[in-house]
Amino acid sequence: MTTQKVPLGDREVLRYRKRPRIVHAILASSFLILLLTGLVILWPALSFLAPGGATRWLHRVAAVGFMSVPIVYLIVDREGAKELMVDSFKYDRDDWRWIKRFWSYAFGHTANMPKQGRLNAGQKMHHALVMLLSASIVASGLALWFFMPSLGPTGQAWAAVIHDLSMLALTLLLVGHLYFTFVYKALSGMTRGYVDIDEARLEHAKWVEELEQEAAEEAAEEDKQAV
Ligand code: HEM
Repeated sequence: MTTQKVPLGDREVLRYRKRPRIVHAILASSFLILLLTGLVILWPALSFLAPGGATRWLHRVAAVGFMSVPIVYLIVDREGAKELMVDSFKYDRDDWRWIKRFWSYAFGHTANMPKQGRLNAGQKMHHALVMLLSASIVASGLALWFFMPSLGPTGQAWAAVIHDLSMLALTLLLVGHLYFTFVYKALSGMTRGYVDIDEARLEHAKWVEELEQEAAEEAAEEDKQAV
């Protein structure tokens, strides 16, 4: 997933290598299972879907999958994980200008948007919030799983409120995440790894320019060596 030496095709550009795509698949699938099983646990009307406590068991299995994501990411793609962590919390002047025009972008108008790097400012905010809210979900979830008796009624109520509100916020973020994925045709970046270069230019003009610059420098270097 690192930006160095990313191959450029004629029509498409490599956005995500296989390893970060697998990590994202674990994140997305474990989150969706947690959401569905969490709803069944919360709503008694849906309890017919949970024979013999299967939902509670599945919720815990998915929680282990969800918690494993940062560890797996660091193991399979340390550079990519670090890059995601740093980029999500680092905003330059163009990012702040982009954020001011967010609503224009949300309705598909990219014409006057400031140029963006590998992650646009909206993605940076999304990814940063995913990390913070996930930490809150994991901490409150572990408290509810292992420390129920020692929490007392007030502690249990707080842990449950924090857990449910963090999950609600992450679910609302997912709606936005899916909306932008489809509006800006980014899905193939997570399925095949490649996205259309013109679409990438709309969202990540600075990043595409960097890749083109690198490709041109490499080609010039190869020409020099061939002489
Ligand atoms: C379930 C359906 C989902 C789809 C179709 C989807 C789609 C995508 C796509 C296409 C990207 C790449 C965007 C780009 O070009 O940079 C992406 C990245 C990302 N998504 Fe999702 N996503 C889904 C679920 C989730 C969920 C549930 C979460 C968090 C709880 C999440 C968190 C992220 C993060 C953190 C990244 C950045 C990954 C990285 O840089 O390694 N996604 N997603």
